[in-house]
Amino acid sequence: MVGLGPRRPPSRKGSMADVPKDLLAQIKHLEEIFTVPKETLDKIVTKFVKELEKGLAKEGSTIGDITDIRQPMNPTWCMGFPTGHETGTFLALDMGGTNLRVCEIHLPEEKGEFDIIQSKYRMPEELKTGTADELWGYIADCLQQFIEYHHEGEKLDKLPLGFTFSYPATQHYIDHGILQRWTKGFDIDGVEGEDVVPPFEKALAERGVPIKLTALINDTTGTLIASAYTDTEMKIGCIFGTGCNAAYMENCGSIPKLAHMNLDPELPIAINCEYGAFDNEHEVLPLTKYDHQIDEESPRPGQQAFEKMIAGLYLGEIFRLVLLDMHDGKHMFEGQSVDKLKKPYNIDASILAAIEEDPFENLSETAELMRVQFDLQCNKPELELVRRLAELIGTRAARLSACGVAAICKKKGYKTAHVGADGSVFNKYPHFKARGAQALREMLDWPEKKNKRDADPVEIMTAEDGSGVGAALIAALTLKRVKEGQLAGIKDAKSMLNF
Ligand code: BGC
Repeated sequence: MVGLGPRRPPSRKGSMADVPKDLLAQIKHLEEIFTVPKETLDKIVTKFVKELEKGLAKEGSTIGDITDIRQPMNPTWCMGFPTGHETGTFLALDMGGTNLRVCEIHLPEEKGEFDIIQSKYRMPEELKTGTADELWGYIADCLQQFIEYHHEGEKLDKLPLGFTFSYPATQHYIDHGILQRWTKGFDIDGVEGEDVVPPFEKALAERGVPIKLTALINDTTGTLIASAYTDTEMKIGCIFGTGCNAAYMENCGSIPKLAHMNLDPELPIAINCEYGAFDNEHEVLPLTKYDHQIDEESPRPGQQAFEKMIAGLYLGEIFRLVLLDMHDGKHMFEGQSVDKLKKPYNIDASILAAIEEDPFENLSETAELMRVQFDLQCNKPELELVRRLAELIGTRAARLSACGVAAICKKKGYKTAHVGADGSVFNKYPHFKARGAQALREMLDWPEKKNKRDADPVEIMTAEDGSGVGAALIAALTLKRVKEGQLAGIKDAKSMLNF
């Protein structure tokens, strides 16, 4: 796109000079409702720390209790970090929202190294609301295609697979997982409340695909383990993408809900926090009427409250609802059709990112985007509101996202840590990292930096490939435990002995 006019300076204060009073009042109102000050961040983190503790304690319930669909803090049976000396060949499957990725990963003798080959398959939109049989059948077909393509004519023994299933699952064992609830817009009947492994393995068996599921993992656990493979400071794995969540390493002695298993209290175990469900009670999150609307109109109202304010799936939707409201209140787009704005989930977070990246003083790229995407001609003051709105939504997301990381650090007493992060919002949304780091600074009360180039004590950094390398490593760690006779949290150890 060609921009007209001079480049936009970093501060836009002056640009608001020509904005009429009414629109200026609207902008001010949006600033009030979308800005999260330090006091609110602090309140959120205080409750967050309590929730993390409560999730591990979960009085009166056992980990098998899946009647509480909000049950967070899932023990994953990934028991410890890799040493960097893991070896072997593994398959990894990542069932994402837009793609299905299949990888074959080779972990050689050299410390911390890996080779990877991979194929991506489209995840048809219809599958997300189709039947369970269609879902498992499609996934098994993709795995079959992958194996036929990469191992044509070979006689294969069964290959061990790490399956990244990035939805909340209760795991009594690492090679099983009961889906607590669908998130991220998935809505497939007959899967919630069920172990997802048997129907998956059945679909593989029907096709004669030579694979043995060795570990069912969450993307956050994969991110944590993959990043720790090369960085011993790594303490937390996060995803800021279509959904949001984190995993960290706990010791068994700090998990009252596992007490009945009499595990060594010093044993480490990764916990999948599932904190997208944080504050489903709506006690501390600064929800706007738009957030309430998103929740009410979602396939799972009352769930994933935190995620719905910050994850990529929802950022565009928040933006859409505000603009529509502005039009309905006769503040913007007078006399124009807003039909395209009326379509739910019609706006991807990448559009907000592009608006925030418009470098031109006259916001010509934003004007072009609004025209092409929504058939809307915006005047300059309207463009100012559009830009400010994107900034407000993006900044709120980054600041709230940092709360989960701050809470884990506070709970664990980490004064310093590396946090591995992945996901489209973290990797692609402009200023997300800097805004998150600023919020962490406010919440964790760091002293002023002596040198501008000094690293922050808790640093959120780009992660290694969690659903590929991470899944393979967790599969490798599981097989190692089987060989050593450490069988806690492994269901089908017998068939894993053959690898
Ligand atoms: C899921 C988590 C996942 C996160 C990021 C959430 O919707 O519940 O399991 O880790 O998205 O993908």
